[in-house]
Amino acid sequence: MMCKIAPSILSADFSKLEEEIKAVEQAGADWIHIDVMDGRFVPNITIGPVVVNSIRKTTNLPFDVHLMIVEPEKYIDSFIDAGADIITLHFEACTHIHRAVEYIKSKGKCAGVSINPATPVEILNEILPYVDIVLIMGVNPGFGGQKYIPTTTKKISKLRDMIEKLEIKPLIEVDGGVTIENAKEIKDAGTDILVAGSSVFSSKDYKETIQKLKNA
Ligand code: DX5
Ligand code: ZN
Repeated sequence: MMCKIAPSILSADFSKLEEEIKAVEQAGADWIHIDVMDGRFVPNITIGPVVVNSIRKTTNLPFDVHLMIVEPEKYIDSFIDAGADIITLHFEACTHIHRAVEYIKSKGKCAGVSINPATPVEILNEILPYVDIVLIMGVNPGFGGQKYIPTTTKKISKLRDMIEKLEIKPLIEVDGGVTIENAKEIKDAGTDILVAGSSVFSSKDYKETIQKLKNA
């Protein structure tokens, strides 16, 4: 089964971001995944709205902005102004997530909710009918290049069952530790979008890797 591929620029060469984004676009990427970290919700600091704004002109692909920050609701407007198309917040970081999700949608953008490996999918039951995307972490967020936590696959299947009962079905996105080797297992569990950082950007041939991930 085909699915969408969202390369995470966290593993790109930041000294030539424009080239890297154009290269994955040429190679068949569907979205550009942008990892925003604040050194508080996760133990790493990455990029903010200034960088998002400056790379916005390099591509027309949707910007899939993954906020791994505390109080993400405070930064929704900044990232929308910078050019985000999809904004994903962590369930663990946002107290009034329904309000934040509705706000993102009221601005005409797609709203995603993400959960860490130790957060059970059942907790999403009440928010599911409101979200466009659920992002399941396959690793503890903070760094690229970590190993996929195997129990994630069961969580994806459970979520797929929960979603099948809904009238409007959010997409399932999986982020962290995705490789050519485990892509099939992750997709078969019901994933619509695969995020891939190191497996794409540390490969020699981006096109070949993206095609292999898509067709796994
Ligand atoms: C992890 C980030 C991921 C990460 C994916 O904190 O949210 O998007 O960069 O990188 P890989 O694919 O290398 O695990
Ligand atoms: Zn991410």
